[in-house]
Amino acid sequence: MKLISGSSNPNLSRHLSDIMGAPIAEAEIRRFPDGELYARIVDDISGEDVCVVQSTYPDHNAVEFLILTRLARDLGAGSVTGVIPYYGYARQDRVFKEGESFTARTMARHIQLSCDRVVCVNLHKEAITREFTDERCLHVSVMPQIGEFMKQHDIRYVLAPDKGAVEYARQAAEAAGCDYTNLEKKRLDGRTVSMAPKDLDVEGKRVCIIDDIIATGGTIMRASQALKDQGAGSVFACCAHGLFTGGGLERLEPYLDGLYSTDTIENPTSRISAAEAIAGALLK
Ligand code: R5P
Repeated sequence: MKLISGSSNPNLSRHLSDIMGAPIAEAEIRRFPDGELYARIVDDISGEDVCVVQSTYPDHNAVEFLILTRLARDLGAGSVTGVIPYYGYARQDRVFKEGESFTARTMARHIQLSCDRVVCVNLHKEAITREFTDERCLHVSVMPQIGEFMKQHDIRYVLAPDKGAVEYARQAAEAAGCDYTNLEKKRLDGRTVSMAPKDLDVEGKRVCIIDDIIATGGTIMRASQALKDQGAGSVFACCAHGLFTGGGLERLEPYLDGLYSTDTIENPTSRISAAEAIAGALLK
């Protein structure tokens, strides 16, 4: 097996290569002055099982994914697996209003034109796997790895900011060996959410908020406030995908004692690797 490392996740690709003992194929990937992508795979990959590691967010990364997977196929790879650390366009996971694009499905249809199978990490909704034909989408969760990380940081309580994140909190708490619960979140509009706190036994404890995605940071800010109001000793946050849009990272700083994400989106908070979870799926 050979890996092709796209531009979105070079660190994750290196980790994966080490764990799997699979080399990263030599490739030239750069941008023309007008922003278009130039891609060349220098190594011979004909007949090889090839994994292209590349997220499909933001748009330029999605185009790079399509170009690299198609290139691998055109160069005669025996099989092409798309490893998609962060699957863009997953939020529009159905048609909410007549006439809308079902973008999670549109992406799946384009992706599978050049991939025999794909591995996705903590999809916004697991049901998106069904948009790929013939069960060719494998879905992995990095919550156990997040839980292991929390254990090393002596976290004593895990909190999901809403019901949608309870399963993530359960998986992380199980690995960390601690309790978990959730707050009730109400989304008021695209940027505003309110939190209805439950009575939590967090007095003086080190608590970690868990979510799949942190985007603007609004959800975590409010969850942190709710925890501090109930006497939490220190409040941390961990997520699979740290998007931190529109200054989210800076906005969150005063609210948290620590903020960590995985390397599905590489940024200064990426202290946990998704490589082990992905390798587990690839080696099955
Ligand atoms: C929502 O369904 C997700 O699980 C996250 O809670 C959400 O994407 C976080 O967004 P933000 O950081 O903008 O509040």
